[in-house]
Amino acid sequence: MNLVVLTGAGVSAESGVPTFRASDGLWEGHRVEAVATPEGFAANPALVQDFYNQRRRQLATVHPNAAHRALADLAARWTGEFLLVTQNVDDLHDRAHADTPPAPGFELIHMHGELKKARCTASGVVCDWAGDLAPAHASPHHPRGTLRPHIVWFGEIPLEMERIEAALARCDLFVSIGTSGAVYPAAGFVQLARMAGARTVEINLEPTQGARLFDEGVYGPASETVPGFFGTL
Ligand code: OAD
Repeated sequence: MNLVVLTGAGVSAESGVPTFRASDGLWEGHRVEAVATPEGFAANPALVQDFYNQRRRQLATVHPNAAHRALADLAARWTGEFLLVTQNVDDLHDRAHADTPPAPGFELIHMHGELKKARCTASGVVCDWAGDLAPAHASPHHPRGTLRPHIVWFGEIPLEMERIEAALARCDLFVSIGTSGAVYPAAGFVQLARMAGARTVEINLEPTQGARLFDEGVYGPASETVPGFFGTL
């Protein structure tokens, strides 16, 4: 049986990583356009680098929770294909899987990039990055390049879309965990899974606006609902 799981900010919320869509419309006190668009970066690189430097530093203070661990346990025992697609730029899935090595059919894709990576603006080379980035950080990969966060900003194309869509086209079960379904293309994955004839399940704190697109909904905190749901598979 082939499985695709999509995760969003809700899976990391109980680890202490804030979700995006707070009622004030701000993201940690900033307008989204200021810190999550190419135009925002061009206008004020110091602000944007500092914003992601802070997020990167925060990773040292958070840890995978029971939902991340339940997905890692599932990946270790799943015998079919299992694609875990996360919209999260934190490294909590990666850390959970490092503790519990996955079976060969498993793959993790960070479709919106990763805080722990940087990208050269001239060559496109992506490298691991653990520290801070300066406003015009010289790139080791190209004489005219600078390093930017390896984050997909609004107006940019999410990563690995071909592989994700191919996996959705052959999946038997699609589970969407802790995402509001407000951002495309991830919000459209449930329709692609339905077209493939998959069973579709939403796991969230509460029904989202797109809840009716799913066959089933499981509602409550991810640290309880995710181990509960996958424990029965
Ligand atoms: P949102 O902040 O839009 O949605 C978070 C979802 O998690 C909501 O539906 C909550 O109900 C749910 N939630 C919160 N706490 C939960 C818990 N403890 N257990 C289960 N569910 C919980 O976050 P995303 O949908 O991930 O893009 O946002 C999608 C994208 O928008 C992000 O990847 C980001 C942002 O702009 C980029 O950074 C490129």
